[in-house]
Amino acid sequence: MSLFKDMLSSDESLFKDEEALNYDFVPRLLPFRDMQQKQIAECIKPLFNDRSGRNCFVSGAPGIGKTAAIRWVLRDLEDHTEEIQPFYINCWQKNTTYKVMLELCEQLGYKFTQNKKTEELFKVVNGLLINKGAVFAFDEVDKLDDFDFLYTILEEVTNKSVILITNFKEWLMDLDERIKSRLVCESYFFEPYTQDETHGILKERIKYAFVPGIWSEDSLKTIGEKTFSKKDIRTGIYLLKESGRIAEDASSKKIQMDHVKNAILKLDAFSVKSQDDLEDETKKVLEVVKNNNGGKIGDLYKKFQENGGLGSYKSFTRKVEKLEKADFITVKKTSGGAEGNTSIISLKDKQLSDF
Ligand SMILES: Nc1ncnc2c1ncn2[C@@H]1O[C@H](COP(=O)(O)OP(=O)(O)OP(=O)(O)O)[C@@H](O)[C@H]1O
Ligand SMILES: [Mg+2]
Repeated sequence: MSLFKDMLSSDESLFKDEEALNYDFVPRLLPFRDMQQKQIAECIKPLFNDRSGRNCFVSGAPGIGKTAAIRWVLRDLEDHTEEIQPFYINCWQKNTTYKVMLELCEQLGYKFTQNKKTEELFKVVNGLLINKGAVFAFDEVDKLDDFDFLYTILEEVTNKSVILITNFKEWLMDLDERIKSRLVCESYFFEPYTQDETHGILKERIKYAFVPGIWSEDSLKTIGEKTFSKKDIRTGIYLLKESGRIAEDASSKKIQMDHVKNAILKLDAFSVKSQDDLEDETKKVLEVVKNNNGGKIGDLYKKFQENGGLGSYKSFTRKVEKLEKADFITVKKTSGGAEGNTSIISLKDKQLSDF
């Protein structure tokens, strides 16, 4: 008897293109975000006439197409002109001015970055952008450790649009005055998708990723409802992929409701953003919460500093906010009573089991 006897052969796979279920896949069509994409394109438009563009600030909850919409616009721009250089940088990975400058060089195809200081790297970038417009999209800007590059770009690059993307609408308000005063920008808030829109997006994604005819309307509806309840399209994409895999493991030629239900069961053990994705200082905050579960925010800050944590109380509270938004912890504000006015920080149950 072979362990592999009942397995579907590769030409029987239920997936037509599994890559279409990667979170960074940008589909050919991006339904329900046309208006936002047009608004962003309008900000970039002056660059086509050798003038500086407008800057944009994009905010909204996780998993609702902010990154996808911007990447779509940048790809479209790249397909239409060589006169405007698009840059896309994820500030979760590139969180300092030096790393950002290195990445800009990399995206311009400039290789001789070794032993160059930050300012020298910027000179190279600015030099390569002479007679060109540039669009700088900085995603997840709330993860940045310093903002000097923003100041430099705003001051010194002639024709540009800067696009800043974050989950936190209030991020702009807290920005250093020096930068804020130079950053006149249009703000766009992305609303979560409605139930119908969520359903439509997932239905469309199925066409890219699966062979035709294996999804029933009921199974898709169940995934659509679960996704809508989480308000995050990534949940839906995860469920599509997981259901497909479970069906394949069962050597089924269709995706049945049972497969979908099992995928949903797995979902509860899955965090959309894993702890490994957090940058080091934020991980340290999470560690402190873990060791002082249910503690007051002021006390946690002290512990954080004792453990070698860096930064002001304000940057600490921002990290706490980040962890709350990413669903790692809960923050409960108290007023009066024995605790006085403070916030009580606790780990989410599912995180407890992860440690
Ligand atoms: N309108 C849409 N059409 C098709 N796919 C979409 C749409 N909106 C979002 N998606 C898909 O959902 C997933 C999450 O979207 P995206 O990465 O853009 O979220 P986000 O708003 O940037 O979230 P975060 O704030 O967590 O970074 C991606 O795989 C993306 O392709
Ligand atoms: Mg994003």
